[in-house]
Amino acid sequence: MAFGVIARYRDRLPVSATTPEVTLGEGSTPLLASTRIGPALGLRSLFFKAEGFNPSGSFKDRGMALATARAMEAQATTLVCASTGNTSASAAAYAARCGMRAVVVLPAGRVASGKLVQALAHGAHVIPVAGTFDQALAIVRQLGEMPGMALVNSINPFRLEGQKTAAFEVIEALGRAPDRLFLPVGNAGNITAYWRGFCEWEHAAQTGLPRMHGAQAAGAAPIVRGAAISNPRTVASAIRIGNPASWTTALTARDESRGSIEAVTDQEILAAQRRLAREEGLLVEPASAAGLALLTRMAGAGQIEAGETIVCVLTGQGLKDPQSFLRRVPKPAPVEASLDAVLAALDST
Ligand code: F0G
Repeated sequence: MAFGVIARYRDRLPVSATTPEVTLGEGSTPLLASTRIGPALGLRSLFFKAEGFNPSGSFKDRGMALATARAMEAQATTLVCASTGNTSASAAAYAARCGMRAVVVLPAGRVASGKLVQALAHGAHVIPVAGTFDQALAIVRQLGEMPGMALVNSINPFRLEGQKTAAFEVIEALGRAPDRLFLPVGNAGNITAYWRGFCEWEHAAQTGLPRMHGAQAAGAAPIVRGAAISNPRTVASAIRIGNPASWTTALTARDESRGSIEAVTDQEILAAQRRLAREEGLLVEPASAAGLALLTRMAGAGQIEAGETIVCVLTGQGLKDPQSFLRRVPKPAPVEASLDAVLAALDST
């Protein structure tokens, strides 16, 4: 069986016979039918595309497999990126796998601890800068021009080409495109990639097109506001971005699909994250719950028909950002090691 996005979708990706088949087993993530949230929102066909099942725990691996393969083919020795965390975790993993160097430039103090651990564990050169993600991206755009360096942020066209395979998988699982797709928007690469994937498949096989709904965090919503933000703020650190690189193509996805890009508050994001964990068994990081936060609001406002087929993309694993839970949920205090003490503790919770 074909394994990894390059092998599975070779004929739909920009690869040649000499492109190495780099893979860590990315892609083929489950499309899970909602068991409890959908019915509670009055929706009969809600699905979650669980991208946290990717090898480094986020959707970035799809594009990183292809970007790494093409970088190797071009004889680059170093993968370089700026990141709010997940891109760096993914770049570090694929570089390690291929014997390449990874250089990751991060906004200091603003990357979730699990993601930092991943980059360090895979042996990346981690360089925190005293600034925002947008400033880090401006730096690596220049680094990427240097000999031997391959820039693997989503401005690298192979990243989006790899990421569009998620749309292919959604169509394959449903037999056609969903009516609507909800996802978080940060640097706006993923909404661009999904739209491309749906359009390509529609062109080849008339599988239909979804309305695309992107969610930005209210304190980091430049596309919604129509202006860049110099100091973006949100608990959803993965999408704490003030000047998205794929801004224009995100607008195209929104407008061509008759969709929307809207802001959701941190409170709505955390409520959606909590529901996914408690009502669906799906632990995701805060940013990954932004799409569901927007869907919840739209369903509550009667903007969605009960019979529509809806897909919410859950972009990354919850264990990457343990602090976002521990700040809100107190750790239980230990009790004496006896049945009585355990029963007493159970009574008091
Ligand atoms: N969800 C997660 C978990 C992310 O890590 C990101 C982006 C997004 C959503 C938004 O996707 O940027 O394509 O619109 N993370 C990047 C990073 C910026 O550096 O890891 P996007």
